[in-house]
Amino acid sequence: MQSLLLELALDLTANLTAADRYERLLGALVRVVPCDAATLLRMENGALRPLAARGLLPEVEGRAFLPAEHPRLAHILASEEPVRVDDHDLPDPFDGLMAGGHALARVHACMGCALRVEGEVVGALTVDALDPAAFDAVDTATFATFAALAGAAMRTAGLIDALEHASRRQGLIARQLLREAQQREGGAILGVSEATRRLRDEVEMLAASDLTVLVTGETGVGKEVVARALHARSRRAAEPLMYVNCAALPDTIAESELFGHLKGAFTGASDARAGKFEAADGGTIFLDEVGELPLSTQPKLLRALQFGEVQRVGADRPLQVDVRVVAATNRDLEAEVEAGRFRADLFHRLNVYPLPVQPLRARRADIPIFAGFFLDQARSRLGVGALRLTPAALTALSEADWPGNVRELEHVVMRAALRAAQGGGRGTVVVDTHHLGELGSVAPAPVAPDASPAVVDRSLADATEAFRRDYIERALAANDGNLSAAARDLGVDRGNLHRLARRLAIIE
Ligand SMILES: Nc1ncnc2c1ncn2[C@@H]1O[C@H](COP(=O)(O)OP(=O)(O)OP(=O)(O)O)[C@@H](O)[C@H]1O
Ligand SMILES: [Mg+2]
Repeated sequence: MQSLLLELALDLTANLTAADRYERLLGALVRVVPCDAATLLRMENGALRPLAARGLLPEVEGRAFLPAEHPRLAHILASEEPVRVDDHDLPDPFDGLMAGGHALARVHACMGCALRVEGEVVGALTVDALDPAAFDAVDTATFATFAALAGAAMRTAGLIDALEHASRRQGLIARQLLREAQQREGGAILGVSEATRRLRDEVEMLAASDLTVLVTGETGVGKEVVARALHARSRRAAEPLMYVNCAALPDTIAESELFGHLKGAFTGASDARAGKFEAADGGTIFLDEVGELPLSTQPKLLRALQFGEVQRVGADRPLQVDVRVVAATNRDLEAEVEAGRFRADLFHRLNVYPLPVQPLRARRADIPIFAGFFLDQARSRLGVGALRLTPAALTALSEADWPGNVRELEHVVMRAALRAAQGGGRGTVVVDTHHLGELGSVAPAPVAPDASPAVVDRSLADATEAFRRDYIERALAANDGNLSAAARDLGVDRGNLHRLARRLAIIE
């Protein structure tokens, strides 16, 4: 599902004709939402005209539908969210227009979403089915994501005629829309512990400012959640939040990715392209894993932070942008500076407001809340009636060590729910301790045979590196060298693990 959406988002930047783009979008939609017909409509002079349709007679493409004459469409256009039309007696605009031998059929179930660009309705996306219950189980967030992509596609199509530069930006934003749609559910900073309350207050206070914020904390504590909350609560909320994973940026493309390039600036630069900073103009850029940013790119980032100036590769003049920077890292950046891997001046610029996120074991009061939240998500993903934890299971969760923090808790709860649900049976699914598996077992630290705990014979940074290397090697060995599986066990992103393993010379 996610790869399907990503493919679509990438289509928006690819060199496709508008018609191809719409076709592919509908093609993907009908794969995810089972239906008998799907239609993408554009608003033109007050009427909705089909741009692309599936499962309808060809003549539908020549029609125009006035919302005033079609109550179902009017209902869809009036709503901010995707809607299911429950009143099956309302006539459907596509009654009698279904292809494939259903020509005389009256359409029963209908679901749709208005497409909005900057608050204005530009069209609608609808699906229809003969089975009245066909859309009962369709996730509205998924449908909304398709609608956001369709809106972006329409907008891109309009802009291609105007400026190549602008349409590129739309493409970047469309990708971002996608990420945001995926994040929407987890957007709020959940938690009731004292530490989380303080964090929320701090986020609230910082959101009102334009200060650069450096979010720090162990893996999986919720750094990205915090960064997104900072943007969502700021005056920039309506503008894009551009996400950059610095760990996934090889030296060669980091500069162009962040700052863009001119046509012909280097081999392969067949078109000019805006960087993430330009795309984020007016909004926020989130530099995730900033500790991994290649040294060669760091001076340019410093300049962007100091003066709001970005320069495309190959350009002779800088551009002025208005971008708020939020960065995150799970590294000790001060140690990185000492080790010569991170520039001191950049560190100080980023560290204007350090915002540490506490590990889960230091805020255990949050654990029941998260458990409930993830159970709820598991319930809708697994499509079971109700999911409940036994008190013993909750106690076990509350007392575990959580080296992988909230993300680890999320995975444990999801896996446990899956195991419990496999037990079959209807009604409430009960998750008990034996469904949880091994909990919070922090693997014993590897101790070299000659290492005596009392001897401090190397710097903290060197010792940390040695530990990391050893631990990653063990995770890889336990998974027959499979990087994805090892990344899962370690609770880190595969891309990050790959980069780290390369840096530590574990793999090449
Ligand atoms: N306070 C919170 N409220 C809701 N969800 C949370 C919270 N904290 C963490 N999560 C969830 O836990 C998971 C990990 O969070 P996130 O990706 O923000 O962590 P991270 O610190 O960026 O991790 P990493 O260091 O691995 O990049 C996500 O699924 C996120 O939705
Ligand atoms: Mg993260």
